[in-house]
Amino acid sequence: MFTDQERFERERELVLRSPQLVGYRSELPTPGSFCTKTVMDIPVLLTRGSDGIVRAFQNVCTHRQAPVAKGCGAAERFVCPFHAWTFDNRGSFVGGPGREGFPATIAAGANLTELPAAEHSGFLWVGLRPDAGPLDIDAHLGDLGPELESWNIGNWAPVGEKVLDVPVNWKLALDTFAENYHFATVHRDTFAVFTKSNCALFDSYGQHHRLVFPMRHIGDIADQPEESWEPLNNFVVIYALFPNIVLSATVANGEVFRVYPGSKPGHSVTYHQNASPMDFSDESIRKAADDVFEYAHASVRDEDYPLAADIQRAMNSGARAEMIFGRNEPGLHHRHSVLDEALGESTGESPGI
Ligand SMILES: [Fe+2]
Repeated sequence: MFTDQERFERERELVLRSPQLVGYRSELPTPGSFCTKTVMDIPVLLTRGSDGIVRAFQNVCTHRQAPVAKGCGAAERFVCPFHAWTFDNRGSFVGGPGREGFPATIAAGANLTELPAAEHSGFLWVGLRPDAGPLDIDAHLGDLGPELESWNIGNWAPVGEKVLDVPVNWKLALDTFAENYHFATVHRDTFAVFTKSNCALFDSYGQHHRLVFPMRHIGDIADQPEESWEPLNNFVVIYALFPNIVLSATVANGEVFRVYPGSKPGHSVTYHQNASPMDFSDESIRKAADDVFEYAHASVRDEDYPLAADIQRAMNSGARAEMIFGRNEPGLHHRHSVLDEALGESTGESPGI
């Protein structure tokens, strides 16, 4: 499951054909906004048109394949830095110098390749196959859609993006988010200081799941009247969106982890983004949100992923053929069961004990 090349290639295909959550609605705040992403190595440009509609394109010039946009901002036109071929924010080729060098027929087909795109539940979504037709995110999320929308995370202020390119299978990377059994050991001096270890509420939503991790201070409310309990002040909520996205949400912080299969079974790339409900008009608040992001990122970079890389090394060696998923790790059972099912590999048995 974690080292086989043939299986890995089928998993890559599955990710390539799945709707991909790529960021927050707030990254395209107004008509004319744009942002750029890398999704499964594919450069993607997202725009919000004057009609308010979100569109996505391959961020690949139709001339010589240079990216036509970098970073994010507002622009009505995108000028390729290589030879100045120019496109509008609906992807249409609008001109370029030296037209006499090309037959007129090229101009007709020189538009950027459009990708299926959607804005749903506060997030931006793309499909990576240009001809696959519109995305049906309602069907993809099912009952989870209204719940994700209710957080309003998509309207929070984006804080940044950090990238982890690691020698870890993409599912092993995702699995580090699917149980809190490891908090007391791996995160002894970080998350375990304020959240409980090995205690979680698990619910599945079709191919997706939700884990609710209690904060340590949840016990403090036991003596207070139940009407005064504020659930969200006492939990971290982790959503695993099939097949490769993790959302981590609290009332104060929203995180997106986009985990992509890399160049081989033992390689993946994680894009980590944060969003904050706070008002950034005060610079000190912005700084505090940056610090929260760095803290959360460091725990993955310095605690979870180095351990996962050690595990991957052991698996690559072939020293041991199996691992164990406990009953206290239902997120792992669920992720691997639904993936097996999607790949047509369901054995009808739980993969764990
Ligand atoms: Fe962890």
